[in-house]
Parts: sequence; C-alpha cells; structure tokens
Amino acid sequence: MAMRPDRPITTLCLNPALDVTYYVHTLIPDEKSRADSARHDPGGNGINIGRALARLDIESHTICVIAGAVGQIFKTLLKDELNHVVFEEVAGETRINTTIIETSSRNQYQITGSGSDIPPADIERIANDFIEVTGNGYGIITGSCQPNVPMTLYADLVRRLNQQGARAVVDTHDEKLKLAIAEKPFLIKPNKHELEQMLGKPLNSVEAVAECARQIQRSGVEYVCVSLSFEGALLISPDNSFYATTLDVPVNTTVGAGDSMVAGMVACFNHHDDAELALKWGIACGAGTVIHPGTQLFEEKDIEALKQKVIIKKLDI
Ligand SMILES: Nc1ncnc2c1ncn2[C@@H]1O[C@H](COP(=O)(O)OP(=O)(O)OP(=O)(O)O)[C@@H](O)[C@H]1O
Ligand SMILES: [Mg+2]
Repeated sequence: MAMRPDRPITTLCLNPALDVTYYVHTLIPDEKSRADSARHDPGGNGINIGRALARLDIESHTICVIAGAVGQIFKTLLKDELNHVVFEEVAGETRINTTIIETSSRNQYQITGSGSDIPPADIERIANDFIEVTGNGYGIITGSCQPNVPMTLYADLVRRLNQQGARAVVDTHDEKLKLAIAEKPFLIKPNKHELEQMLGKPLNSVEAVAECARQIQRSGVEYVCVSLSFEGALLISPDNSFYATTLDVPVNTTVGAGDSMVAGMVACFNHHDDAELALKWGIACGAGTVIHPGTQLFEEKDIEALKQKVIIKKLDI
C-alpha cells in the first residue's frame, strides 16, 4: 500500500514519448548499424516522475496526453507503473524518442521527436483537469510541449496553482521556463545547460551557477535546484546554497536522472522544508537511476544507502 503524501502530488505529462533504446557496438556513417539489443519503454519527464514517486511508495496522480497508435502502445507498455493516471486522448500521434548507446565509446546519442499539435480546446481541457486534480497539492509541470502549445501555458498553470495555494514545481527549458519563473513557482530544476541557454551566457564554475540561481531565487522562486550531470547538483534555498558532488556509481544510461531527482526532492519537501535533505534525496535518486539501462529507474531499496553517501557543502551564496 503506497504511503499517502502530506499534500497530494500531481504531474502533468503533456508530451510523453515511446522511448526506444538501441545498443550498437560502433556507429559508422553511411553503413547499416546493427543493434545488439533494443528496449521499448514508456517515456517522458512526467511519466518518469510518476514512476519514480511510485517507487518511493508515494501515491501520486499523472495527467498524461496520448495520441494515435503509438499512444496505445505507450499505454500498454506503461502497464501499472503509475498509481493514478488520467489518459487524455487527443488527435495525432504520440512521439517516439530514440537513444543510441554506442557501446565501444560509451557515447550516448538522443533523438527527440516534437509531437503532434493539440487542438486548442483540448489544451484548455487538459490544463483545467491538471489544476483541478492538483488542488492545493504539488503540481509538477515538466517536459516539452507539442509545437502549437502556447509558450505561456506553463506560466499560466503556475499562476493558477499559486492562486489555489498549491506548490508549483517546474522542470522545463527555454522561454517556457523563463515565463514560468516570473510567476514564482515553489521549485525549479533546470540542468546547467538549460540555465545557460535561458540566460544566454556560459557559467564556468559551480559558484557562477550558484550566483545566477540565487538571483532567480531572489526574484521569487522559493527553491532553485540546478543539476550538473556527473558534477552533482546545487540547491539554493531561502537560507543558504548547498552543493553536492555526484556519487561514484557505475553509469549505464542517464535517461531519467533529472526526473528521478525532481521526484526525490518533492518526496522530501512533502515532509520537511529542509533543503539539505531534499538535495540528498535528489542526488540519491538521480545516482540510483544512472546505474540502470534504458529508462529503468532507481530501486527504492538502494536509496537509503545512497543518501547516506551524499556529501553536502554549504556555499554561503
Ligand atoms: N554520469 C552521472 N554519474 C552520476 N550521477 C549522475 C550522472 N548523471 C546524472 N547524475 C545524477 O543525476 C542528477 C540529474 O542529472 P542531470 O543533471 O543529467 O539532469 P537532466 O539533464 O535534467 O537529466 P534528464 O535527462 O533526466 O532531463 C545529477 O545531479 C546527478 O546527481
Ligand atoms: Mg531534465
């Protein structure tokens, strides 16, 4: 029986994907590359967060948009990995994302589909369903949008969540992230690259990332987490800035690491407003996921031990 969280948690997965992962020894241009093995997984940031929360034994709702024949395969693959899911069926096709792991070099190539347009009336219905199901809980808004979805959608959702006393958590990029930040979400988690892109400048040290994240925090975002891939992550709280290096784990694929991190932090914040502990949860869940192939996520049994190994440094930024 999953533990009931203090506040209900709802994740919006507007643009999920059928994830295909191929393991290829060496990719050679203009030659046919044979896959040694392949995996098919239901993917998309929101789906991963729902799956990660379920693994942490935390009940949550997922609002998931599906379309066409690929959408049906996606639904079948998802099986019962999510606690409560509302499938919003729309016209078009659910996208297919492809990851190629070149085993000789350990290089990872990712090709991401953009998804089919959603009729505006459906966008409105989906947004309303998300707002209603979230209530005053955590509303996690994550991932990319189909090409015709207005840039302002995520910002509008943050504003509506704030109006009803919910805590908005945003993990997206580009203009969507910038506009959402202006509406003051509870937590954001860009990776360093997404932050650099949004700010239009390179950030060459952990301190430089922390300074920029602090400016965003001061603008009204309660917690700003910036993930730094194999270099760990930063969490800027109203009181201080915390940096954790990553854990030394065998890396398989990093797909879903950021999503696992978001799920871990929300799981922690739901019980304690403790930034240090939340960062430990985030790092442990992220590291727990990179150990596994494809979009397979962390095992709950590993999380406690991983959390114990996280070393947090206060930056006083
Ligand atoms: N190679 C790695 N080794 C160990 N830990 C890692 C590695 N890559 C990621 N992690 C862990 O996962 C966290 C999130 O990873 P990352 O910064 O890559 O997120 P992301 O880019 O948002 O990922 P996603 O592809 O899920 O969107 C990192 O802060 C780190 O703790
Ligand atoms: Mg990410």
